[in-house]
Amino acid sequence: QVLIKDLYRNTESFIDKKVELSGWIRTIRDSKTFGFIELNDGSFFKSVQIVFDDKLENYKDIAKLPISSSVKVEGDFIHTPQAKQPFEIKATVIAIEGTSNVDYPLQKKRHTFEYLRTIAHLRPRTNTFSAVFRVRSIAAYAMHKFFNEKGFVYVHSPIITGSDTEGAGEMFRVTSLDLNKLPKNEEGKTDDTKDFFGKETNLTVSGQLSAESFALAFRNVYTFGPTFRAENSNTARHAAEFWMIEPEVAFAELPDIMDLAEEMVKYVIGYVLEQAPEEMDFFNSFVEKGLLDRLNNAYTADFGRVTYTEAIELLKKSGENFAYPVEWGLDLQTEHERYLCEKVYQKPVFVTDYPKEIKAFYMRLNEDDKTVAATDLLVPGIGELIGGSQREEREEVLAAKIKELGMNEEDYWWYLELRKYGGTKHSGYGLGFERLIMYLTGMTNIRDVIPFPRTPGNADF
Ligand code: 4AD
Ligand code: MG
Repeated sequence: QVLIKDLYRNTESFIDKKVELSGWIRTIRDSKTFGFIELNDGSFFKSVQIVFDDKLENYKDIAKLPISSSVKVEGDFIHTPQAKQPFEIKATVIAIEGTSNVDYPLQKKRHTFEYLRTIAHLRPRTNTFSAVFRVRSIAAYAMHKFFNEKGFVYVHSPIITGSDTEGAGEMFRVTSLDLNKLPKNEEGKTDDTKDFFGKETNLTVSGQLSAESFALAFRNVYTFGPTFRAENSNTARHAAEFWMIEPEVAFAELPDIMDLAEEMVKYVIGYVLEQAPEEMDFFNSFVEKGLLDRLNNAYTADFGRVTYTEAIELLKKSGENFAYPVEWGLDLQTEHERYLCEKVYQKPVFVTDYPKEIKAFYMRLNEDDKTVAATDLLVPGIGELIGGSQREEREEVLAAKIKELGMNEEDYWWYLELRKYGGTKHSGYGLGFERLIMYLTGMTNIRDVIPFPRTPGNADF
């Protein structure tokens, strides 16, 4: 059997050959004596045209197949370089693998993304979602390729943890439902004051703390895995389950990881444009006009860099009527972030050195005692794509911070030991993978870039 991808990529080599392929019927039309099928086999964004006629013994059965039926086709490859489609297959045999039904929900018409979310098990068969999820796969591969080419070690950080890395309390609790599985005491009794792990645990909000431990052994590491947040923000950019890429680099200061982040984003843009040209053209035509210009601009431009303090000044004198207040000490909202990267810089921009009060406990305190060595990368259309920082490597400063915030000190003894035993400057960041896919495709809702989205009130499929 051949794949449709090969027919498109190596067209010349199939001239005058017999081919055998299988796939699903995207469209079918027929007259009394002949018909056409658009067949898609999943290997490629485009379909191939199958011509069939009443010389097939099962012509009548084929002609009445509902769309989405699966078939196996044998036929002659006909080169048609002048035509809109550069080739077609003249069928000699069509075998039915699985018929569909006339009530198939994806009839040939435009469906809203909202509707398609209600049939998340079928939506990868549409053009849009076929393109989104292939680009997602290619971008994931590009990430691994980028970090591996740079010699980074891929670390699998735990999903179940006892720590709240971001300190925002947005965790999903993990409990064992089966009390028989609880640890037993000396008398063989279960102690139901303790849960399965002997302590409270939750789904991880970030792999960072584990990554730091490995960075102090391997120097350059990254994680790439699912993370979970019980934020009740029902926005188009927040999901309860999302994937994060978190590089962590020993002996690196903040500007070093900003350079790394810029290089990484450009690498993935370049790789996706090169590996998925059909999908990217589709997004450019049907999802976001100007997408390719936007990505090419990001690929070639030097990303902007501005401090939080300067950014507040820019926002204050913008004359914009923001819904949320702009004041030194307050966090930037999406509208502020988008104004900065879309109106002021018109390209991705790093904002650095945020007030310590609005950032996480592990960020390195700057000399001014007011700000921390943090950075967010803001990109047009999205706002925050990356959050990162230089980590507090001074044991006493970190210990004092943990105490000051009233965090559970026992949970962080091992994290403090990383500072005690050969601690060094180190820095890292986290990139929200779904937000990157939105940025690459122009899709505007996070629910439409993850196969089976989990958001408040929704864990169907
Ligand atoms: O800025 P955040 O919270 O940073 C961290 O978790 C750090 N521990 C990362 C690090 O330094 N290693 O999250 C990082 C990124 C955000 O910039 C955003 O892109 C994404 O993760 N993100 C979400 N994406 C989808 N849904 C959510 N609920 C998200 N929360 C954060
Ligand atoms: Mg953040």
